[in-house]
Amino acid sequence: MKRLTYISNFSRSLTKKDIESIGKISQTNNCRQGITGVLLSCSGIFFQILEGEEESIDSLYEKILKDDRHNRILCLKSELNISARRFPDWSMEVIVLDENNDILLQPIKILLQTLGESQAILATYTQSGVLEAIGRGINPLTLVPRYTEKIIFFADIISFTSITEKVQVTEVVDFLNQFFTICTKAIAARGGEVTKFIGDCVMAYFDGDQADNALQASLDILSDLEMLRNQAPANSPLRVLYVGIGLSKGTVLEGNIGSQTKKEYTVIGDAVNVASRIEALTRQLNRFLVFSDSVRLGLSDRWRSVRLGDFHAKGREEIVEVYSIDDLLTFQKSDFQKLKQEIRQHLELISSQTPELV
Ligand SMILES: Cc1cc2nc3c(=O)[nH]c(=O)nc-3n(C[C@H](O)[C@H](O)[C@H](O)COP(=O)(O)O)c2cc1C
Repeated sequence: MKRLTYISNFSRSLTKKDIESIGKISQTNNCRQGITGVLLSCSGIFFQILEGEEESIDSLYEKILKDDRHNRILCLKSELNISARRFPDWSMEVIVLDENNDILLQPIKILLQTLGESQAILATYTQSGVLEAIGRGINPLTLVPRYTEKIIFFADIISFTSITEKVQVTEVVDFLNQFFTICTKAIAARGGEVTKFIGDCVMAYFDGDQADNALQASLDILSDLEMLRNQAPANSPLRVLYVGIGLSKGTVLEGNIGSQTKKEYTVIGDAVNVASRIEALTRQLNRFLVFSDSVRLGLSDRWRSVRLGDFHAKGREEIVEVYSIDDLLTFQKSDFQKLKQEIRQHLELISSQTPELV
């Protein structure tokens, strides 16, 4: 038999009646499937323990994971080969702690609230692939690194050092957060995964057969940034938030990499280096978006690729064939030096209006 314990958050506000109806259907279904357990609800959080035959628990949990009444589901424990049930008489006992004033239950209420808050904090810091594994009851630390085909995405803010020199620290944080939010949303919307933020740089990846999505996400980012620049107040550094994006495809090692005490779920390999190197070429090619031949080969024919030439990416022996696409968003209006000058002039204007730099 298997016992599974998880915690989740209401995805919308649920009434006592809504929760009772979950209990009712659960009791009917669970009785039929030989499943027992308990469902606690408290301050917008569910805490449930399910026990029964492994197959029945797995198929119920699949259903529960898809239920849109809750989200941010975190499997706290998945126990196999249990010999006895803890709740043999409850097909699914529902306890709404919010209405319960029993002093003995107060610490449990606090424990659940704290667990819910910690989970929300962890979810913000953790990669969705790792969270998904935890949600399914798989310990992500047990995932063995493997070779996979990935498209690597690198985006880096143009003239970021000058921006940090001329802009108030709080504004730099807002500036970065706006950029990271745009990237994270666009990448997730097209099925990609942000691996990390490295200073002012975003590293992400897409599955190897997702070249169209990787390119579309890149264009979405360029388009959102253009909108952000145009809508920003005249004295905002966001007026000069420009980025270079590089994409490359290849075999990478995907998995947990790190020390005993600190690990990162990431990808490493030549494609990562190439993506970062060709991103740097955006400056000399006067394009905001460039990609390698390996990415171009995976694109559908809805894109018009333009070959920009063969380049010796810094630190590599091999020549990389670099492409972009015929889309206005990818063009730097003037050459890169002029763009840098435009940024510098705007920053001078801002700093002349700012009394003191903190
Ligand atoms: C927090 C939560 C706990 C649930 N627990 C159970 C459960 O123990 N058993 C169950 O059959 N359904 C449970 N459900 C409901 C299932 O997600 C699903 O809606 C239901 O099983 C569908 O039943 P049906 O296939 O008979 O239509 C739960 C839903 C939520 C949001």
